[in-house]
Amino acid sequence: MTKKKYTITSALPYANGPLHIGHIAGAYLPADIYVRYRKSKKDDVLFVCGSDEHGAAITLRAKKDGLSPKDIVDTYHFLNEKSFADIGINFDIYHRTSDPLHHQTAQQFFKTLDQNGIFKKIISNQFYDNKHQQFLADRYIIGTCPKCCYEHAYGDQCEKCGSALSPSDLINPKSTLSGDTPVMKETMHWYLPMQDHQNWLKDWIEKGVYKNKKLHDPKDWRHQVIGQCKSWIDGGLRERAMTRDLNWGVKVPYNDVDGKVLYVWLDAPIGYISATKKWANKNNKKWQDYWQNDAELIHFIGKDNIVFHTIIFPILLHAHGNYVLPKNVPANEFLNLEGKKLSTSKNWAIWLHDYLKDFVDQQDVLRYVLCSTAPESKDTDFTWADFQARNNNELVAIFGNFINRVVVLTNKYWDGYVPKKSNLTQYDEIVMADFTKYAHRIGQLIEKYKFREALSEVMNLARLGNKYLADTEPWKLKKIDEVRTQTILNISLQIASHLSVLSEPFLPFTSNKLCNMLNIEKGSWDNIKELHHNHKINSASLLFSKIDDEVINQQLSKLKLQDL
Ligand code: 2FM
Ligand code: ZN
Repeated sequence: MTKKKYTITSALPYANGPLHIGHIAGAYLPADIYVRYRKSKKDDVLFVCGSDEHGAAITLRAKKDGLSPKDIVDTYHFLNEKSFADIGINFDIYHRTSDPLHHQTAQQFFKTLDQNGIFKKIISNQFYDNKHQQFLADRYIIGTCPKCCYEHAYGDQCEKCGSALSPSDLINPKSTLSGDTPVMKETMHWYLPMQDHQNWLKDWIEKGVYKNKKLHDPKDWRHQVIGQCKSWIDGGLRERAMTRDLNWGVKVPYNDVDGKVLYVWLDAPIGYISATKKWANKNNKKWQDYWQNDAELIHFIGKDNIVFHTIIFPILLHAHGNYVLPKNVPANEFLNLEGKKLSTSKNWAIWLHDYLKDFVDQQDVLRYVLCSTAPESKDTDFTWADFQARNNNELVAIFGNFINRVVVLTNKYWDGYVPKKSNLTQYDEIVMADFTKYAHRIGQLIEKYKFREALSEVMNLARLGNKYLADTEPWKLKKIDEVRTQTILNISLQIASHLSVLSEPFLPFTSNKLCNMLNIEKGSWDNIKELHHNHKINSASLLFSKIDDEVINQQLSKLKLQDL
């Protein structure tokens, strides 16, 4: 029997700027945790991502910097790819939507949809910049928001009050290219009439039923995801243009069409498919296995991408045929920074590549803090004070302290040889019965996308180890009762071995260090290594170190400078 396939995607980040901690907390760290867990379970799982290199966000950035879009995407593609790797987000492939294979894939997808009669061609009037002889993408038009009167609202959204807009809603619209008032001009586009899909979408989203089959339990979807879907569907779906008048992107694949590209939101999710193809070609696999039959597709995204992954992309997959629909879309809410919304344009962010430079070899501290405070069901706040407290009071004081005590004592008393376990007391039995339950408990939470809770259970396991040592005080017993001391340390070492596996999805660097210290190959989720009597472990090294006020103050000052 062939193994079930899991296809895990993280939103393709725009290659128009560096990654910040909000991106990591939203769509990348949770996916990486999930994938590492699945891999530890020996599941057949593929983790794809890549740079989204098209869309108005890129061309605007290029214009602002006086560079070509290609210069911009090359810079940020490689920077972001490296930052992901350095923080331990282990994609199987980090692709790019500028790759010819992606262009072919997206064009073929579009043609199939067109041949299936999915689109309506509609002529409409759209804003045009006469000076630049160009139609204006929504983001190229600014004007006054009709809802809150903010004067710099974009054609698709007001960043002040958050309202979704269309360019014609703006009062006093201006082209960002020339500063002139744009004129209206006719243009033809391919539209997706989403209303035609309302019925099956409603069944699929609200009941998990598709083509008479129950595919998922809607209770397993996060409430904010279901909430956004329902409000879109209940508000009535409308047609939406799937092409744009632009020169940067995947060209509409017809000879008689010029200057039109696929809408970036048709292009980008197909990036998941082209990334799979690229990976499959390299690894001698069949890409279809990861997108058809009973493959389980899971999209990790931030809340701003919900409708694209739960409504628009599923419609496209359905209309194309021969694709699975997502099993779940565990979208996160937003992470704020020191009480304010993270913003790339306002430079209010902690940039990932900066963190990695400032906190060498401390990737897991950030992973720990971002997972412990992940915005799974509501917006949350990152503060440097909390970062310091979680490092010092949790990673150092609980996890690090337990491992250090066990490894130091084993080296001190028995030259690093694992002592024998014998004459178990009732308390030993209780502790053993308890710690062996954690793998299942943590696994269940991860499978329900409850990563915060899962991580707190990892810490509870370390707490259990600390409590066991504090209650039994082997350092006091050594001279009086050698046999008892040996048993206590043996059991504590087994807890450490469990921690090396169960912490891995969250703290992969720490887990590696711990395996080195214990001198073991990493076990798997269902087969955690027992440390046998007389196995020799290595000497202790610190897993975590205290972060001083000075370091935190430096980061706070840096932020203050960014805020000017
Ligand atoms: O919001 C964004 O950053 C988009 N680039 C996300 C694309 S997700 C997907 F469809 F690839
Ligand atoms: Zn507004």
